[in-house]
Amino acid sequence: SYYQEKYRPQFHFTPEKNWMNDPNGMVYYNGEYHLFYQYHPNSNVWGPMHWGHAVSKDLVHWEHLPIALKPDENGMIFSGSAVVDWHDTTGFFGGESGLVAIFTHADEYPGTDKPRQRQSLAYSKDNGRTWTPYDGNPVLAEPRIIDFRDPKVFWHEDTGRWVMVIASGQTVSMYTSLNLIDWEFVSEFGDGEGSHQGVWECPDLFQLPVDHSTDKKKWVLLVSLGDEPDVEEGSKTQYFVGEFDGKTFVNDHDSAKVLWVDRGWDNYAGVTWSDLPMASGRRVFMGWMSNWRYAIDTPTSTWRSAMTLPRELSLKTTREGFRLIQTPVPDIESIRNEGQTFEDMELKSGGNLFKGLKGNALDLELDLDVTYTGSVRLGLLQSEKEETVIEYDVSSSTLSFDRRRSGDASFHQSFAMTQSITLNVPDGRLKLRVFVDWSSVEVFGGDGEVVLTNLVFPGEESLGLELSTDGTAYVHKARVSPLKSVWK
Ligand code: FRU
Repeated sequence: SYYQEKYRPQFHFTPEKNWMNDPNGMVYYNGEYHLFYQYHPNSNVWGPMHWGHAVSKDLVHWEHLPIALKPDENGMIFSGSAVVDWHDTTGFFGGESGLVAIFTHADEYPGTDKPRQRQSLAYSKDNGRTWTPYDGNPVLAEPRIIDFRDPKVFWHEDTGRWVMVIASGQTVSMYTSLNLIDWEFVSEFGDGEGSHQGVWECPDLFQLPVDHSTDKKKWVLLVSLGDEPDVEEGSKTQYFVGEFDGKTFVNDHDSAKVLWVDRGWDNYAGVTWSDLPMASGRRVFMGWMSNWRYAIDTPTSTWRSAMTLPRELSLKTTREGFRLIQTPVPDIESIRNEGQTFEDMELKSGGNLFKGLKGNALDLELDLDVTYTGSVRLGLLQSEKEETVIEYDVSSSTLSFDRRRSGDASFHQSFAMTQSITLNVPDGRLKLRVFVDWSSVEVFGGDGEVVLTNLVFPGEESLGLELSTDGTAYVHKARVSPLKSVWK
């Protein structure tokens, strides 16, 4: 049946075949979540970029649709966003509403090989099924900036304007517009702020509630950082928290502070859905589950790359400032098969609570008291030769992820890594939610303030599980649920 190839994710979005990178144009309209993506339909390495397209009613089951945008006389179709033009500010829809995509056209200055990146529009009057490039493309050029791309557009209620945030070298620039066609530069953010370890790409700017409050909100700016050879972890995504008045973003934290969206290696170019119903207050994020360091080398055939799980975002106040909280969308629970739950019991050294359990499409939930133990070890995708190990060390409050023996790690020298990050466990309570989908592991720590997303490529016989400890851990709850394929 459908999608049985080696390593093929069963509940993550993948293209049917060939190369995919960034998620693009994510927008909710008439009951459908649209996902577009950087796509090369002719091979499974990067090439002339198109926008692939899929729709979903629940963010879990996806339907593949024909390619939405393809290279034209203005160039390749790079990353960008889509909005609902509710009040026909563009005049494209004869007074009705419709979808507008705002993206980068990438080509070269005529007669040279110097890259040229300009912003363009396309619109759809039929729920995204067919698209017409605007005949006045491009609508925004900035010849002084070489890397000028990935426009993310949203409607700013208080000023009654469209706002575009766009990567401009190693900063982001903000533009405003009344009609999505004529754009005015209003500000730039980023000089001396956060990390500059790579070129800035794929920004997003949106408001989030703080501590689930209905009136306290902050603005969050996401910025991805391109791969640079001297950066160990390759490409990754940072965020800023602050204020935005429709023109200028002001960082709330110290400029030197760098906040990472994901502490794993495989979550890049992620942005959020536009036009989710306001009343729900929901903001849903999805990233490309790979890393430019080795993306073209991963050992999959027919298709290459998956997206992360869709994740709901919120903000939490901590002693150090505001922190992003990510939780997998609740709809993922609709594909759970009955699994095994352990409750209110002790786990002692020498034992494996998950002995005999198996699987490579899993949703795991751990809620443990680790006061009387030194460390807890969660082994995934185990066989005699292979395992992916997540370990929590209580005295140093570190969560580590080790994929050195996870399976095929030979395709790139950077891949076989192990990493350690801080995860504080208030009252000795260690909470982890872990998703395994054959070639990926996503770990949500605590309330979702620490997230690790990492690819792995284990053999098909590596299905074993282990939960063990070196002292005595108290199991409030440990649940292992197999997940169904969303593709059948
Ligand atoms: C990020 C990125 C974007 C660009 C796209 C091209 O991964 O480099 O900046 O628009 O990929 O495919």
